[in-house]
Amino acid sequence: MSNSPLKVAVIGMGGIGHTHANCYKEDALSELVCVCDLNKTKADEAAEKFGVPAFYAVKEVLHAHPELDIIDVTTSGFENGSWHYEPVMQALDAGKHVLTEKPISNDIHEAREMVRVAAHKGLYLGCNLNHFFSGPADKARELIADDKIGEQVYAMSKVGFNGSAITPSMVDKDSRWQMPYSHAKAFLTHPFSVMRHFGGNVTHIQAFMDKPGARRQSSDLMLSIQSIHMRFENGSVGYLLSQRGDAHFGLGGWWSYELAGTKGTFCIENCVEKLTYWTKDKEPEITDTGVTDFGATFPIRIHAFLEDVTNGVPREHLRASGRDALATMEYIFAAIDSYESGGQIVRPNALPPYHGDVSIIH
Ligand SMILES: NC(=O)c1ccc[n+]([C@@H]2O[C@H](COP(=O)([O-])OP(=O)(O)OC[C@H]3O[C@@H](n4cnc5c(N)ncnc54)[C@H](O)[C@@H]3O)[C@@H](O)[C@H]2O)c1
Repeated sequence: MSNSPLKVAVIGMGGIGHTHANCYKEDALSELVCVCDLNKTKADEAAEKFGVPAFYAVKEVLHAHPELDIIDVTTSGFENGSWHYEPVMQALDAGKHVLTEKPISNDIHEAREMVRVAAHKGLYLGCNLNHFFSGPADKARELIADDKIGEQVYAMSKVGFNGSAITPSMVDKDSRWQMPYSHAKAFLTHPFSVMRHFGGNVTHIQAFMDKPGARRQSSDLMLSIQSIHMRFENGSVGYLLSQRGDAHFGLGGWWSYELAGTKGTFCIENCVEKLTYWTKDKEPEITDTGVTDFGATFPIRIHAFLEDVTNGVPREHLRASGRDALATMEYIFAAIDSYESGGQIVRPNALPPYHGDVSIIH
């Protein structure tokens, strides 16, 4: 267990890089050492804002600050994930723990490789799967731990972006969103991470994807609607519905997740706001957090990563790990496979096993 704050560099100073840097500045477990962006203006502006030096390449960061403990990668890229691999691998090669933004990668082979290398080197690789770091998620874990849900029966997740059918967003022809699976790859990592966090591994996936007429007419390539049916390892079933600005969400708002079991059911609404718990013959119990800003998930998630690294938890106990992020990408690629084969059932690729750390066997 380390006593001094963990030394952190943030790579990629877009909006999310600023959010992460702010979290490190505010957290007693970390010290923000420097920021980095290939774009000099962005790096310099962030450096001035946070009062730390600017760098313009990861290798310069690693060379100038060999004392760093954590490299936080907040780059983006095609499908919001293609620029994660290179900086993550540079950091792992230098023996640094890494927190990367989601999706871990838009390329399943790169995602597998990052997880493999981190495991091989015994380093922590975390991913910012922040949607289950909230007050309602804490309450949900408490209900499960107190056996108030019972045997899992079904799970449902409905999450995406509110919008209108006549003005679809992101149809800009030059946008890097102009790829068929950009919404699926960039975004579904979140609901899948929540569904797996509470419901366990998924063994079977069947998917349909589409886009509404307005997107078709404007030659928007992105498949913005996903309807995904699944079976969990524990035998229960699940359903995930996502859409990117084609309609307005009804009950539960932009983010809802419901888990039902033989003893009770909970539903989280708007991610951070509210949890309702139902059980037979009782009035529903409502936990209203008073929080409406989804941004509240970032400091909680980042603090959890800092705690896990500080405490030196066994790698398999790292919360929202790279392996957890890989699981969500395996599900997304299975969903794409299913869609491309007309709705066939696909079994996602198995995750790499944990082999354990021989140094802790007495
Ligand atoms: N977890 C969440 O809730 C959440 C929400 C929104 C976005 N995101 C994710 O956060 C990431 C960043 O999003 P954003 O909107 O800030 O992106 P952005 O494109 O605005 O910023 C990324 C920055 O990274 C820089 N960059 C790219 N490659 C680099 C490299 N090798 N070295 C140094 N700098 C490099 C770019 O110049 C750019 O300034 C994305 O992966 C996105 O999916 C997560």
